[in-house]
Amino acid sequence: LTDRLVVAYRCDVAKKSAKKGKAPPSGASTRGKATMAALADSRDLYEKSVQRPNDEVEFVASTFAKLRKRPAQTLREDFSGTAAFSRTWVAGGRDRKAFAIDLDNDALDWCQEKMAARPKQERDRLRCIAGDVTESVCEAPVDVAVAFNFSYWIFKSRATLLKYFKRVHASLRDDGLFFLDIWGGPGVQDPDEDEHEEDGYDWRWQWEAYNPLNSEIRCHIHFAFPDGSAISPAYTYDWRMWTIAELRDIAIEAGFRNLRCFDEELDDDGEETGRRIEIHELSGYETWWLYLVVER
Ligand SMILES: C[S@@+](CC[C@H](N)C(=O)[O-])C[C@H]1O[C@@H](n2cnc3c(N)ncnc32)[C@H](O)[C@@H]1O
Repeated sequence: LTDRLVVAYRCDVAKKSAKKGKAPPSGASTRGKATMAALADSRDLYEKSVQRPNDEVEFVASTFAKLRKRPAQTLREDFSGTAAFSRTWVAGGRDRKAFAIDLDNDALDWCQEKMAARPKQERDRLRCIAGDVTESVCEAPVDVAVAFNFSYWIFKSRATLLKYFKRVHASLRDDGLFFLDIWGGPGVQDPDEDEHEEDGYDWRWQWEAYNPLNSEIRCHIHFAFPDGSAISPAYTYDWRMWTIAELRDIAIEAGFRNLRCFDEELDDDGEETGRRIEIHELSGYETWWLYLVVER
């Protein structure tokens, strides 16, 4: 799952390779036969399309080691869904443990099914917790907490986001780090979409409507197949887009020390190098996607 495109990225670079097009007919079928859409596992497609856990685990582990001068071992993956990050985390070292937290029991069951094929000592180091990340569902102090693919945007009020950040703060060790990602830029305000070709299917990331009066946005992920069938939309998100300045204020109020921004380094041709560097300013992009590292 390395090298997969993520949900959102710097359009200036990525749009060069993105193909735009109309949505395939939703629910199209081929007479009598089960369509490719009907046979597809949308969780599997989601992981293959918008997640890159190998890359993210490497970033989290190396950033923690650099900032804290010790390896990170324990992880809390919030809004884990199928817990792709946690599965990769525990596979990466015998000292690593993970707690994957999500409200969705079905997604956690799907994770357990995937884990069934893994060695027992690896399975024992991943615990799936069905619960609300704003509540005290995971008391074990951890080195690292992650909340990826903008999942915390589900919280639309400052009070709820602050409650969540306080919960993460309380669950981290004294030198713990909290990793988030964020998408933004003027381009998110105009409805648009990017289409990506994968092996055996295409997927589109659509941002359908942004409301500047409350910073809310509605986005979708669609999958389309060579037989004309589609899962459209496969996933819909109804979010509030928080700004980095707002997140920094909330993090400080929750007890964190600071919030750092990391961007993918580009080479001279504007291609992504896979290396992430801390940045202190950003300009010139229609849309951007960054990692945030919040220090306890
Ligand atoms: C966009 S998915 C993120 C999946 C994965 N973390 C990723 O990076 O792609 C958002 C997930 O958050 C979960 N979720 C929403 N509100 C939650 C809450 N209050 N507590 C725990 N999980 C929640 C949903 O069930 C869903 O699986």
